[in-house]
Amino acid sequence: MKILRTVAEVREAYQGGEVGLVPTMGYLHEGHLSLIRKARQENEIVVVSVFVNPTQFAPNEDYDIYPRDLERDAELAREAGCDFLFAPSAEEMYPAGYRTYVNVEEITEKLCGASRPSHFRGVTTVVSKLFNITRPKRAYFGQKDAQQALVIMAMTSDLNFPVEIRTVPTVREADGLALSSRNTYLRPDERKAAPVLFRSLQAARALFLQGERRREALLAAAEKVLAEEPKTQVEYLSLVHPLTLEEVERVEKQALLALAVRIGKVRLIDNLMLGSGLVEWEEDDYAQDNV
Ligand code: PAF
Repeated sequence: MKILRTVAEVREAYQGGEVGLVPTMGYLHEGHLSLIRKARQENEIVVVSVFVNPTQFAPNEDYDIYPRDLERDAELAREAGCDFLFAPSAEEMYPAGYRTYVNVEEITEKLCGASRPSHFRGVTTVVSKLFNITRPKRAYFGQKDAQQALVIMAMTSDLNFPVEIRTVPTVREADGLALSSRNTYLRPDERKAAPVLFRSLQAARALFLQGERRREALLAAAEKVLAEEPKTQVEYLSLVHPLTLEEVERVEKQALLALAVRIGKVRLIDNLMLGSGLVEWEEDDYAQDNV
């Protein structure tokens, strides 16, 4: 595996061959590794980017303290099947005078976008740049960041990027907590409380699997579980159409059940897709088994 630091180095590193790109902000965990392994199965060349992207953090957010360990990331990425690790500096991606941004409208204002108004503009900008730099045939994103995956699908379609967006199921700890680099911020008592996010989603899904389709009933089941954990501060709990992210009154074919919760100072997100037929989402092992 080769580590590439500049756009020029990527341009020289490979010509031709089907490329699978796994964009990350590093501090790799099993969730990232599942994306890399999937990319390895489906592509001739696997590129993993490690870049803590400043434009997707607001000034009051955790850009400065976001965990970083490139040496460890390189070892893990290599073991999972990465050929090229692209780890540019902030100056390489955003040189002085940088002025161009990509913005997907409407769906970026909902859910996480309501409290992080500039976040998705930073994500779509950096992902566009990564697409242009690495020229992938396929790019891999986790379902844990469902809104991000949907926004990137919309951007890819709207801007005619010749890239297939592949989503990979959320990887969870044994107690259901979705893996995230930000889990490292949790104190032991907060870590103990954190699986309540997934438990609340599961409670709603159990009702859904029994045939309940009404928003009120599904959200009430999730809210009841969240209310049992005093450390939680719910930012949003939403049942939305999987393409428009508009709130729905009933699940017709498919809906995204998503939440953001603060536990202490740590903001955690999680989601489940209920039903099928609108967005192709790779099957989640937890979908049927663990409710
Ligand atoms: O999901 C992430 O880690 C980031 O938002 C991404 C897609 C790598 C863009 O910086």
